Amino acid sequence: MIITVASFKGGVGKTTTAIHLAEFLQTDAPTLLVDGDLNRSALQWSGTGGFDFQVCDEGQAVKFSRNAEHIVIDTPARPSVEELATLAGGCDLLIVPTSPDALAMGAMLQMVDYLDKQIFRVLLTIVPAKPSKRGAEARAALESADLPVFSTDIRQLDAFKKAAEQGVSVNKVTGDRMAGIAWNCYQKVGEEILKNG
Ligand SMILES: Nc1ncnc2c1ncn2[C@@H]1O[C@H](COP(=O)(O)OP(=O)(O)O)[C@@H](O)[C@H]1O
Ligand SMILES: [Mg+2]
Repeated sequence: MIITVASFKGGVGKTTTAIHLAEFLQTDAPTLLVDGDLNRSALQWSGTGGFDFQVCDEGQAVKFSRNAEHIVIDTPARPSVEELATLAGGCDLLIVPTSPDALAMGAMLQMVDYLDKQIFRVLLTIVPAKPSKRGAEARAALESADLPVFSTDIRQLDAFKKAAEQGVSVNKVTGDRMAGIAWNCYQKVGEEILKNG
């Protein structure tokens, strides 16, 4: 399966999502993460070799993909409409992460307007814990617009920042008692993906 992670807005958890889905999919079959971002954030994060899956940049992707059953592609923010069409045409599933705030939701709504509902699914990320209602309100907005959305929220947790600092995925973070819960968010999303094919 080829999964691309893309959004108009930066900072909504694209790289975090790409890394953790690759880590999850690796438990199913050999997985490759292609770092399509010029900032090379996924490659930087993996600098210390803290992942089970393979990581390469776009220029190396053809060779590396030989051995991969699943491929996850991380992309830079702000793709043009033309680039978006190319991205959508090059994958089986386009994941559009958005945090539940108005700015990110606005950018997400603009983006999915250009996309076929068959190809994308929205992922709510960096969702603050209750009593904040942001997550629930964002989900209600997505559902009333009849947009495909993962049923799991990715919670806003410090463990994700620690993961980046420690150069590992969140399932390998030490010294954060919420790390297991953080990992479980992406596990559930990964299970939704494998279940729906
Ligand atoms: N679920 C989360 N909870 C808390 N912080 C998060 C979460 N997801 C991402 N972050 C943090 O938000 C920032 C942006 O995330 P990143 O994955 O790099 O986004 P993007 O690739 O869309 O720019 C990073 O500092 C990252 O550690
Ligand atoms: Mg990124």
